Amino acid sequence: MDKDRKLSDRPEFAVLNGVVVPFADARISVMAPGLTFAAAVFEGMRAYWNPDHEQLYVLHLHDHLERLQFSMRVIELDNPPSTEDLTSQVIAGLRANNFREDCYIRVQTYVDDWGEMIATGPVGSSIICRRRPRVEAFANGKHFAVSSWRRNADDASPPRIKATANYLNSRLAGLEAKRIGADGGIILNRDGTVSEGPGGCLFIVRDGRLITPPVTAGILESITRRTLLLLAAGMDQPADERDVGRTELYLAQECFYCGTGQEIVPILSVDGKAVGTSEAGPLTRRLQEAYDKIVRCRDAAYRNWLTPVYE
Ligand SMILES: Cc1ncc(COP(=O)(O)O)c(C=O)c1O
Repeated sequence: MDKDRKLSDRPEFAVLNGVVVPFADARISVMAPGLTFAAAVFEGMRAYWNPDHEQLYVLHLHDHLERLQFSMRVIELDNPPSTEDLTSQVIAGLRANNFREDCYIRVQTYVDDWGEMIATGPVGSSIICRRRPRVEAFANGKHFAVSSWRRNADDASPPRIKATANYLNSRLAGLEAKRIGADGGIILNRDGTVSEGPGGCLFIVRDGRLITPPVTAGILESITRRTLLLLAAGMDQPADERDVGRTELYLAQECFYCGTGQEIVPILSVDGKAVGTSEAGPLTRRLQEAYDKIVRCRDAAYRNWLTPVYE
């Protein structure tokens, strides 16, 4: 992505400590423990524009903010902002920018100001909403490689928390993937089974069954992963949550990467070995179609997963 594109993606307004401010004024102290010791947690959500409804819908807003509450509880932040307050602030941030296209929303909370490693306050929050179209890889897929970096463990830097600190592990895997010419890395856990990717979870399809590593495999308890398991159940598609061995990635007929930002990205090869026919498989495409309908409020059955932004 070029520099101009990044600059133009900056929103006009952000929400800082509950107040809508010009994006340029959303700043924190250089000595904030959120920065100096990564005492910070966050959420990433998507909002989808439906031109027929003239409406922007935030997907799974409540679930994301509840996961944030869990993350804040584990890293012990004082008086964390409530889900109710953050809900209104996300809506305020989107409305202030008057977005009428697909967006990404980052909600982050951290120890602000100046303090030691175990400081638990004062707690700051910021919400950055920006335009973000669907990734091209949704249609075209990506090539992945197994990373030499192992996933951080639940008893060290727990991946179940969406903590900024965990993204060092993801960054190292992502940098390595880029260096060797892959689009993304697959990270194994200490047991040597598949954990997840740098910013999303993994599914494979073997002999008609959808398979994904369990929540004890060193993954973030992904909301997209859970959504896809629910969709599979609704389609009478057999699905298993179980350990996945590295070489199963080479045997799988289909494989895909999922998460809020990536949505559902077909994985065409792993370690240079074709997955299936090296094209998005039929189940991957079926799930993508169902997902797209749901997130744009074109499937009434799942309307309660969406929060409309405009009145
Ligand atoms: C490390 C990691 N795993 C999984 C996910 C997918 O989680 P979710 O579906 O809740 O966005 C993400 C992305 O947000 C992530 O960063």
